[in-house]
This record gives sequence, C-alpha cells and structure tokens, in this order.
Amino acid sequence: MSNLFSPIKVGAYDLSHRVVLAPMTRLRTNQPDDIPSKMMADFYGQRASRGGLEIVEGVSISITARSYLGAASFFHDGQVAGWKAVANAVHAKGGRVFMQLIHGGRQSHVEMTGGVAPLAPSVVPFEGVALTKNGFVPASPHRAIELEEIPGIIEEFRVAAQRAKDAGFDGVELHGANGYLVDQFIQDGSNKRTDAYGGPIENRVRFLREAVEALISVWGADRVGVRISPSGEWGDLSDSNPEATFSYVAKVLDGYKIAYLHVIEPRIKGDDTLHAGHPPVASSYLRPYFKGPIIAAGGFDRDGAQAIIEKGDADLVAFGRHFTSNPDLPYRLQHNLPLTPYVRAAFWGGDEKNYSDFPTYEEAQVA
Ligand SMILES: Cc1cc2nc3c(=O)[nH]c(=O)nc-3n(C[C@H](O)[C@H](O)[C@H](O)COP(=O)(O)O)c2cc1C
Repeated sequence: MSNLFSPIKVGAYDLSHRVVLAPMTRLRTNQPDDIPSKMMADFYGQRASRGGLEIVEGVSISITARSYLGAASFFHDGQVAGWKAVANAVHAKGGRVFMQLIHGGRQSHVEMTGGVAPLAPSVVPFEGVALTKNGFVPASPHRAIELEEIPGIIEEFRVAAQRAKDAGFDGVELHGANGYLVDQFIQDGSNKRTDAYGGPIENRVRFLREAVEALISVWGADRVGVRISPSGEWGDLSDSNPEATFSYVAKVLDGYKIAYLHVIEPRIKGDDTLHAGHPPVASSYLRPYFKGPIIAAGGFDRDGAQAIIEKGDADLVAFGRHFTSNPDLPYRLQHNLPLTPYVRAAFWGGDEKNYSDFPTYEEAQVA
C-alpha cells in the first residue's frame, strides 16, 4: 500500500515522497516591480528536499493579471534573476519546483492592473477584494473580455510559461482554482457569456483548455499541472452543479495526460479555516475521471494525509500553513516529530521574521 513516503512518478519526475509544498502567496516581492526577493529564494530553498515537489506561489502572467500588492509576477526581464535564484535554491537541495501561473481576472483593482478595468468572462456583481497600498479594498468594477482579446491572454500564459522554463523551473501549474480568471470561466455563476466560451460546460472549459494547451506547447504535458477548487467560495464563485462541472474538467484534463491534478478539498473553502466534518469528496468523485496523480490540499495533518493516500483518493498531499513554519516538514512528518505552530500574522507581507527564519527540528534541538 502506498503511503506519504513511498516514491511516486509525477509526470516527467520521480519523486521520493508525497509531501508537496502548496502554493502560497506571501507578498514579499521587492516593490515596485515585483522582483522576487532574496528571502523568497531562502524560503523555497529551506523547504526543498531531495526528490520533493514545491509549487511556488501564484505568479501573475501580466500586469492586468495582478491582484495583490507585493505578490509575485513574471512578465518583465528585471524579474529573471530573482526567479532563477528561487529555482537554483530548490535544485541545490535536489528538489523539484513548479511555478503556479495566475491571472486574477475580476479579483483586482485598477491600482494593480496598470489603470485598466479588471477583466472577467462576464460582468456579474460580486464581492471580492484586491490588495493595494491602501490595504484590502473592494475590487474595481470589471469588464467582460472581448472575444478577440482571448488569444492575447492565452499568449500571456504561454510567454509566462516560457519565462518559467528559461528561469530553470521544472514545470508549471495553471491556477484554475480559488475564483481567479480560469475558474471564473469554468463556473456558471461568473460566466454568463453567450459565445463559444460560455453556456454549456464544453464551452466554459474552452478557456482552460486553451491555457493548458499553451502551457503544454512550452513544457510538454508531463511538466504541466492544474489546480482546481470544486468547492471553493473564495472570490464569490459559484456553480449550479459543481460535481458535474468539475468531473467534466477532470475528464478534459485527463485527456491531455498532464503531470497532475491538484485539488483543494472542501474542508477548506477559501477562507483558510478548517470546516471540520467535510470528507475529501472532491478527490473521490474526480478520481474516476482523472487517471494520473492527484494532489489533495486543504487542512491536512500527518494522519489525514496518510489516510487519504492509503485510501487511494489522492496520490500526494500539498501542505500550506504547516509548511510555513516547518521548513523540514517532510522530515518531521516522516519521523512523527512535533510541528512548530504557524504565525498567521506573518502570512501576508512582512520581512524575514516568521517567514524564512524558522529552524528545522534539528536546528531547534541544537539551539
Ligand atoms: C498565506 C497563504 C497564501 C496562499 N496563496 C495561495 C496561492 O498563491 N495559490 C493557491 O492556489 N493557493 C494559495 N493558498 C491556499 C494554499 O495553497 C492551500 O490550499 C491552503 O492553505 C490549504 O492548505 P493547508 O490547510 O495545508 O494550509 C494560500 C494559503 C495561504 C495560507
């Protein structure tokens, strides 16, 4: 029977264990140009393990794709050195690192998008936020993407994927979760289009398909993953039939033979608190449709992670918050060592403190 520490092949890569670093936006790029900071390279390097997989925080593919001041992006040459440093830090420890590519869509503000209205599949009133120099503020009014603009956005995904490749990453993950642009196209609460990108699910996944194809054109399918959140509520998203919608999404993605499907379980709905009692149904109902590796995320501890893998509902488990304060999380889980509690106040923005200064278990013993 597989467990958290059995090796697994994920796309092109042989991983030595199944503890994945979940993508986490920590708002620590150098401003004003979103330059990846030294502490970011330190953070990812510290969390790397031989044969382990890390997924780097959501990286905006263009200026209009940005949502949060201080968040990562990759669309200009000034950012290349910083991203290379991140990839190098992970590789130096024998780890693998994918970059999560994001377009925020309507979850944004004119201060973040270079002064233009945030983009969305359709204009639908929603309650979302963006982060500007004035803190969290209501999102600016968005406008519907014109049909002829879509190829340009897909091209932005392709170019960002190429940049990730040139910077030495091992692959890319499309952020199709948490109410951002790809998710806005998929779910019918936010997609009211009447053209080829709206209406029936076959149309609502067209944008996802084209984005995935763009990433595959750069990387090959075995170095591309996709993240979805079938039960997420972040970004005010909703769908009239999530199970049907996301089963179809899983089937479509299976057809591309991508490296993995990354599923945020319903125990986490977007507000990052644990909704106890929600079984990990997403993996269960997606499993018949997606034959490749499934990464589950959301509220896992050691026992929960072991259980979902042993049951076969998922093949790997991504850890977010526990990984923030335990750079050696795979080691601690493997040896059943106590975990350092995370510090929520340092999640979004700040300096090295409670970010890249957490000791490993062994370092803490020595101190
Ligand atoms: C500080 C923070 C930032 C996050 N940023 C992202 C992100 O950039 N992209 C993403 O897909 N999910 C993001 N998430 C969600 C996590 O990847 C993960 O799904 C969530 O934290 C649940 O896992 P956990 O219970 O192990 O923390 C973030 C979560 C936290 C706590």
